[in-house]
Amino acid sequence: MKNKKYFIANWKMELSYKQSVDLSLKMKELAFAKNFKLILSPSFPMIPAVLRYSDIEVSAQDCAAWEKGAYTGEVSAKVLKEIGCSYAIVGHSERRNHLNESDELINEKIKQTFGAGLIPILCFGEKEDELEKKEQVIVSQLKNALKNLSVKNNDKIFFAYEPVWAIGSGRNCPADRVIEVFRTVKRAAVNVLGAEFFDNNTEFIYGGSVDSENINEYFDKKEINGFLVGSSSLKMKEMKKMFD
Ligand code: PGA
Repeated sequence: MKNKKYFIANWKMELSYKQSVDLSLKMKELAFAKNFKLILSPSFPMIPAVLRYSDIEVSAQDCAAWEKGAYTGEVSAKVLKEIGCSYAIVGHSERRNHLNESDELINEKIKQTFGAGLIPILCFGEKEDELEKKEQVIVSQLKNALKNLSVKNNDKIFFAYEPVWAIGSGRNCPADRVIEVFRTVKRAAVNVLGAEFFDNNTEFIYGGSVDSENINEYFDKKEINGFLVGSSSLKMKEMKKMFD
């Protein structure tokens, strides 16, 4: 029996409150699917309703880089934990691009998630014009994001490789190239986190145009522990096909 793969449904800012509730109710029937551990990631205001109606673990799509204070519009990792989140996505490329989030800010956010008892889902990946220096880009993103982190035995990190050119483009990254990146992540992260922590407390996730046509390509790869899925996670028909 294969290990269950994580399936993190990143709903981005695509759904209304009502649509999120409706989809949560429908997702309930998928939560017990044999091969997946499902995690839903709605926008902030929908988190309590999604938890209530789906009874599935929830990830926030972001969290603040500060613990508390005068930061208008921000939501702290502690409050996210308090309302029932288990995870927070950190460093998604859409935030890096549209909001100029830096690796340094992402580093602070990871520290906040640890402090609050949330598991960070750290997104990283190269842009199309960085393909030739992909390894360098990824190592630098990871080293900066993990800088001066001190991890405890019960902390966990999800590394979500999301090549920017694959997100929402219909061009998924082939499994063998994703596995090469896993090796790069291991090289970059082991120095900071230690080999034992890396082996026992981290998961490696792929995201970027995952759908029912290509998900099987990754399924028997032991290095790939799951998926971060955007547009396909909004369509019940697609979800059912992927979970079959
Ligand atoms: P996509 O998005 O599945 O629509 O490519 C993935 C993501 O941005 O996390």
